[in-house]
Amino acid sequence: MGRIITIVSGKGGVGKTSLTANLGVALSQAGLKVLLVDADVAMANLSLILGMQSSPITLHDVLLGESTINDAVYDGPGGVFFVPSGLSLEAYRRVDSERLESVIKGIQENYDFILIDAPAGIEKNVMAAIAAGDETIIVTTPDSPSVADAIKIKLVAQRLGVNPIGLIINFARNEKGEIKAQDITRLLELPVMGIVPEDPEIRRSFMQENALPVILRKPNCPSSNSIRKIAEKLAGKNIEASAEEKKPGFFSRLFGNFGKKKQTEQIKKTTQE
Ligand SMILES: Nc1ncnc2c1ncn2[C@@H]1O[C@H](COP(=O)(O)OP(=O)(O)OP(=O)(O)O)[C@@H](O)[C@H]1O
Ligand SMILES: [Mg+2]
Repeated sequence: MGRIITIVSGKGGVGKTSLTANLGVALSQAGLKVLLVDADVAMANLSLILGMQSSPITLHDVLLGESTINDAVYDGPGGVFFVPSGLSLEAYRRVDSERLESVIKGIQENYDFILIDAPAGIEKNVMAAIAAGDETIIVTTPDSPSVADAIKIKLVAQRLGVNPIGLIINFARNEKGEIKAQDITRLLELPVMGIVPEDPEIRRSFMQENALPVILRKPNCPSSNSIRKIAEKLAGKNIEASAEEKKPGFFSRLFGNFGKKKQTEQIKKTTQE
């Protein structure tokens, strides 16, 4: 039986999706079979960070009972498997996120790790993402609003009977005024699994025409090194840093920015449905 871990935060924008993608790739580099699930059913963007273009069948279709989960699993970069969320607002309004738990538990034995990228906050889709996991990792930045929200999400997870196993402190700058790791541990009564520095390479990696998780594009940059160490703790073994170059597709090589434009149009079209 694989481990199902939901990556959560109280506050938005703290790096859950970036960490999910990169931790997943690192675990896969450790030789483990990893599935990433974009459970941010309203604001899907794990696929953008993974550099995946539109996918015909998504978690929306699965939660609507129109497809099976296995039909929504795609090959991602670095050997990960990936279930994207849909972009259609209309489908989002109809999805039943409570089905997520049974859907994910139904494929638990097929993977070593299933990492679920949760939305921020404590609304119903967040609770569904937490309930679908057996464990949670809480992401926070080293400042008081984020830590205060992390405390709330920890309580929510505990009420749902899901064990928070630790914290990741992201966007660390080592600046005066930041809350220290030992103070965050004390406040949340949870171990710090890793501290990931603020690193422009993370943003750069998905802003490329051919987006790729930073751990594959720049395997030795500061954020990649920190994320790999967290993955090593989860995997219980060392992971070699290795790069993967994503070659531009045939069309983008021929027409330059054409591929990106096509992607933008696709997002516009599906969100207007
Ligand atoms: N350590 C970091 N250093 C610099 N930029 C980062 C870091 N981690 C994440 N980012 C950037 O911060 C932004 C938000 O990250 P991300 O989307 O992963 O957060 P999130 O918690 O999933 O957000 P949301 O709550 O909206 O789902 C992205 O532009 C990402 O590239
Ligand atoms: Mg996110």
